[in-house]
Amino acid sequence: MADHSLNDMAAGQRASNDPPKMEARNVDVFYGAKQAIKNVSIDVGMENVTAFIGPSGCGKSTFLRTLNRMNDTVSSARVTGEITLDGDDIYSPEMDVVQLRARVGMVFQKPNPFPKSIYENVAYGPRIHGLASGKADMDAIVEKSLRRAGLWDEVKDRLSESGTAMSGGQQQRLCIARAIAVEPEVILMDEPCSALDPIATAKIEELIHELRGRYAIVIVTHNMQQAARVSQRTAFFHLGTLVEYGDTSEIFTNPRETRTKDYITGRYG
Ligand SMILES: Nc1ncnc2c1ncn2[C@@H]1O[C@H](COP(=O)(O)OP(=O)(O)OP(=O)(O)O)[C@@H](O)[C@H]1O
Ligand SMILES: [Mg+2]
Repeated sequence: MADHSLNDMAAGQRASNDPPKMEARNVDVFYGAKQAIKNVSIDVGMENVTAFIGPSGCGKSTFLRTLNRMNDTVSSARVTGEITLDGDDIYSPEMDVVQLRARVGMVFQKPNPFPKSIYENVAYGPRIHGLASGKADMDAIVEKSLRRAGLWDEVKDRLSESGTAMSGGQQQRLCIARAIAVEPEVILMDEPCSALDPIATAKIEELIHELRGRYAIVIVTHNMQQAARVSQRTAFFHLGTLVEYGDTSEIFTNPRETRTKDYITGRYG
């Protein structure tokens, strides 16, 4: 990353007074001998939605997955550098990975509800993490999570129906409700709308607006308009490097790097 963008980043964070929720420093990711992420440093703040953009294969999903150690599930993957959550190294041996993934939740490209009822999809996480003290408490968690995900009114009379029987857009909001139910601090979304129609997409974007501030949100998207609509900070990745990171309005109207400009104006991708 160029020095000026690091300085801007620091200035942006100083304005908020709070330290960044997550800090990544000099992160490299290898799959076997192949390096997919090269020396990426970035801060993710609570107050912003951060968009990751860049051409296919540039490492957006790989880097996103380093933020909650989902790469641990890929045997060839090796991560070096430092990533902290509230100042704690998430790759330290003391870090409880199950707990980490509750604090840093993930929503995938393809909605993946469990083949269980709508209620159970949301209740599952709170149950395994022991967050509910009884049935009434669990009911309240399920309702609150579904409300926050903008789904309650559509499903309140069919909570026992299968989560997989809903529309794609509803399934994706159910997956967001499932992530929210364990009270995460960060929500990572990897192209959450790419399998959805424009109406369902608009609902997810609206939801992201509503969730902003309550959770630190990172969204990977190929859709430039979506990045411009939902995010306040944008990171442009290219060939495994973070080329530019700054305010979304700046990145889209006045990018500093030629490669960023070429990408956002559709010259390659
Ligand atoms: N499990 C894996 N094993 C080996 N190589 C991988 C694996 N996952 C990703 N890669 C490689 O790492 C590089 C980055 O891939 P990644 O999926 O992170 O890109 P991306 O920016 O998310 O792309 P897209 O926009 O197509 O989703 C690519 O060269 C890809 O082939
Ligand atoms: Mg990807």
